[in-house]
Amino acid sequence: MRNRMIAGNWKMNKTYTEGVQLAQDLAEALSDGTGNVDVVVCPPTVDLKGVSTVIDQQSAPFALGAQNVYWEESGAYTGETAPNMLEAVGATYCIIGHSERRDYFHETDEDVNKKAKTLMAHNIVPISCCGEPLEIREAGTHVAYVVDQIKKDTEGLEISDPAKYVVAYEPIWAIGTGKTATADDAQEVCGAIRATLAEIFGQETADGIRILYGGSAKPENVAGFLEKEDVDGALVGGASLKADSFSAMVKAAM
Ligand code: PGA
Repeated sequence: MRNRMIAGNWKMNKTYTEGVQLAQDLAEALSDGTGNVDVVVCPPTVDLKGVSTVIDQQSAPFALGAQNVYWEESGAYTGETAPNMLEAVGATYCIIGHSERRDYFHETDEDVNKKAKTLMAHNIVPISCCGEPLEIREAGTHVAYVVDQIKKDTEGLEISDPAKYVVAYEPIWAIGTGKTATADDAQEVCGAIRATLAEIFGQETADGIRILYGGSAKPENVAGFLEKEDVDGALVGGASLKADSFSAMVKAAM
């Protein structure tokens, strides 16, 4: 019922030329198609147009995503990117609420919620991230922590098409550390996320929303996560920076 999704978050890596090259290599590596797996690549903002051109020229089987957006339509917001600017370069997804943005740039659940509303008004699919820091995991309160984030991040959202809202569960202690959560750890929280979405939006909608796992996901471990009932894919950082490892993850999901 839910198509799996593999999304690559390039973070602050790849210059324009390098980004175009990676997109070309990925289009080549995935030239046989991706079956029922939805694939998304999220380059840095200045690379979006270049990657979009590669997607068009090579009929690449992946969609374009941004890593951030501002919730105003235009105006005096130096350094920010408006949703219609993302639309204009062909971005159809956008990551919001990544833990690095929450930590380093003080993004709050209220911000994440405003960004989700803005994106959905522009028909851009939010990939809305949540996840607990190490001290919360060690205290054993991680499920309650993430459920609270989900409630705040989705407040007042209207989801008419569940394929157009994506959640990514990324335990912060597992991001870029090489320390992965186990598949059972991921299922515990992803299951609680789906139950919370069902309380808010109804079971049918919750059953259609993709929930991704993120945090040191790689070709060797992705299949184990995908076996779990409520894990529908992966949000991939480090392993998305090379066409061979990222395409191997897509193939593992097919
Ligand atoms: P990682 O990053 O795969 O490098 O751990 C995941 C993410 O932060 O989205």
